[in-house]
Amino acid sequence: MGYHTIQRETRICEDAVLVTVRAEFPIRGSVELSTLALFLVHGHSAALACTCVRNIHDTIPPVTLSVRVENAITVSYGAAEVAEQGSVYLRVAWLRGLEIARNELTRRLRHIYSPCQHKLGNTVEKQTTRNKSLRAFFEPESVAVIGASQDEEKVGHSVLRNLLRFGFEGRVYPINPKAGEILGTKCYPSARVIGSRIDLGVIVVPARFVPVVIEDLIANGCRACVIITAGFKEIGSREGVELEKRIVAMAREAHMRILGPNCFGIINPHNGLNATFGRDMPGKGHIAFMSQSGALCVAVLDWALGVGIGFSKVISMGNEADLTEVDYMEALAQDEKTRVILGYIEGVKDGRRFLEAAERIAREKPLVFIKAGGTSAGARAAASHTGSMAGSEKAFKAAFRQSGIVPARSIEELFDIAAGFAYQQVPRGPRLAIVTNAGGPAIMASDAAERLGLILPNLTKETVQYLRERMPPEVSLNNPVDLIGDADVERYRVASEKVLEDPNVDGCIFILSPQATTEVEGNAELVGTLAESTDKPVLSSFMGRVRLGRANAILQEHSVPNYSYPERAVNAFRAMADYSSWLRSPKPEPRSFEVDRRRAEEVLTKALSDGRRELADTDGREILAAYGFRTPETLLARTSKEAIAAAETIGYPVVMKIAARDILHKTDIGGVAVGLRTPEEVRLAFLDMTSRAQGYLVEGANVQEMIRGGREMILGMSCDSTFGPLLLFGLGGIYVETLKDTSFRIAPVNEDEARNMIREIRAYSILQGARGEPPSDIDMTVESILRLSQLVMDMSAITELDINPLIVLPQGQGAVAVDCRMVIKEDERCRAST
Ligand code: COA
Repeated sequence: MGYHTIQRETRICEDAVLVTVRAEFPIRGSVELSTLALFLVHGHSAALACTCVRNIHDTIPPVTLSVRVENAITVSYGAAEVAEQGSVYLRVAWLRGLEIARNELTRRLRHIYSPCQHKLGNTVEKQTTRNKSLRAFFEPESVAVIGASQDEEKVGHSVLRNLLRFGFEGRVYPINPKAGEILGTKCYPSARVIGSRIDLGVIVVPARFVPVVIEDLIANGCRACVIITAGFKEIGSREGVELEKRIVAMAREAHMRILGPNCFGIINPHNGLNATFGRDMPGKGHIAFMSQSGALCVAVLDWALGVGIGFSKVISMGNEADLTEVDYMEALAQDEKTRVILGYIEGVKDGRRFLEAAERIAREKPLVFIKAGGTSAGARAAASHTGSMAGSEKAFKAAFRQSGIVPARSIEELFDIAAGFAYQQVPRGPRLAIVTNAGGPAIMASDAAERLGLILPNLTKETVQYLRERMPPEVSLNNPVDLIGDADVERYRVASEKVLEDPNVDGCIFILSPQATTEVEGNAELVGTLAESTDKPVLSSFMGRVRLGRANAILQEHSVPNYSYPERAVNAFRAMADYSSWLRSPKPEPRSFEVDRRRAEEVLTKALSDGRRELADTDGREILAAYGFRTPETLLARTSKEAIAAAETIGYPVVMKIAARDILHKTDIGGVAVGLRTPEEVRLAFLDMTSRAQGYLVEGANVQEMIRGGREMILGMSCDSTFGPLLLFGLGGIYVETLKDTSFRIAPVNEDEARNMIREIRAYSILQGARGEPPSDIDMTVESILRLSQLVMDMSAITELDINPLIVLPQGQGAVAVDCRMVIKEDERCRAST
């Protein structure tokens, strides 16, 4: 059946063409919609075509689109999703293809349709209306266990048992051709013969049978399945990879969504759904946990049960053959029961999509992620300083920071932070008060607070006066407020109420050491009640174990997270305060400068057609100049006479650098001379360096204006395989890799992010002007970062870039890109993996 569609909107973004089309009548339920958008572009045709089934209540399976531009064929993979009732949203990610053709298409489409900014972030506002719920997975009315077994030792038995014994009220169908009944439940030979539609299939048959089982589920009308079975891509064999591709293709064709394979399963404690082969059911709570490690899920659940942590959802993501971490994040963002989303990730499938989604979701709910498995493989292969100092860990750190994800370094920290977010308010700021009955632990807490950048504010005069009138003289009224060892509940109450009211305080940690006279449970009750009556976050560290009695349980009943040691409480508060600060910071769009893009493209195209893979000197400087960088005046000299003439034109003193395309590190062969003040020095330097460079393709030497004063910094970019262009800023010059004083961000960056890159390095205080030295031109450094960001977003053929040094002159005098190197690649966009 063919529907007429009208095109609603087309946006051309850096990585995608975004097309929104509207069906002429509302899309309800599951209907077929074919769309063909044909763009006749100045005699060339670019066709975007897709066919897919739409279901307004569900996420939409990705579709494959072909984009033809002149003779270049770019096969792209795109996701089509429901934007709102009656419309379809296509996102076509550019994967590979001739850059020029891509640019041409982009240019022409832009000419025809409304222009759009070069930023994927533009898609964000459109995406908010999409229905991302994975209802069939978490709220199914019927579940089939394919591979259910009578054998108690088998996974299929455990999964069925878990679905039957934790109060799940939906229908459960064991499927096994050999059994009539399992665990007292009627068994079916296949999903085909059940007679009613199954919402969710849980597959626990050996890998080779999985395709048949999926066929049966599709025939049944089932559109969601969890594949616990292992033996796919993860085993590394070709067969495993092929099998996984095959089941994904089958599912996509039928618009079925797959969770897994090779996973532990899923849990929704709120409706008793436990589709895993674990032993227990975690308690109900507001923490969602999504994990790329199934084994970790098992361990975490066991531990959480022991310490009384409850969950809203638990998702073992497995191989993520179809649904990925972004889909789960989106679903959990919409989940009412989830207040905080925890993730254990080893990698992400589509870095850019991950960033977009995380940033949007983090504005509504905190995301706390632990990233395991940083690799230095990419760094080892790098040809630039920037590349060698980058690496996936840095990229993830930058990505987390930019998108508001709270990072955790251990599982313990993950849950420490989660407890704060799940049960307490986000603080308005970083000002922490500590109320304690123990001096030592309070000192430890204060040290931790200071180390982590929190503020321990002075209490207002009014608070201090109030407390002085009511507390014994030994009580310390500075923050931490030390009520000393014999503090009873009343003393805690009077002090705590007042401290929490203090306008200088954004949140409070109550520390308690169970001394002989301490009324532990009474204090727990007090802290709980206080927490419920304030809009500031309250955390506690009731220390010890045996003497705590029911204190832990009481605090839990009042939703006050209790930490066994004060530093852990402080750390959780720090994470909450950081998140709060991120939430409060505006996110301005990256600034766009007037640049000579065409000129830069010409230089790159020429270099690529000459077969060059590295650009430095003249070409590099030309590209930078086209993007508004100030570069030193430079003249190429082929003879010592020309060198002297060049020096006279530029003005002494000058710098001389060997000009040879095949010399990567000029300094190493004595190919750089600075501070040449006379014609004789210039002549000798020329003769010396050209004789040292024998055997290289020497063109002569570049005579260059000598930039005096200023600080040597480095500005660079390397391509991260997950997130694309990763910017670096740091202390430059010859110590760049020794001191590694650097900061990283994923491009594009806005002004705030650029400024933060500068503030983050240890040498920032030097740039500000230490010990009577003039402050450096930080504004121009910010601008340089922004210009570089624009350059690398525009010129995808640049895969690595170093500006080293970028000499930052005193305030008001600018910054000069003195040396630069670029690695360029044809047919290879510097972009995130898909
Ligand atoms: N439909 C329904 N049932 C089927 C079937 C089909 N097409 N094909 C086989 N079965 C039945 C089997 O007859 C068996 O039932 P039985 O005990 O009554 O004989 C049951 O399904 C299971 O099959 P079996 O061959 O006994 O496999 P198994 O239980 O030893 O292993 C898996 C199956 C899925 C558990 C195993 O292949 C596997 O992948 N294990 C690893 C799981 C894992 O670690 N996942 C990742 C966690 S993080």
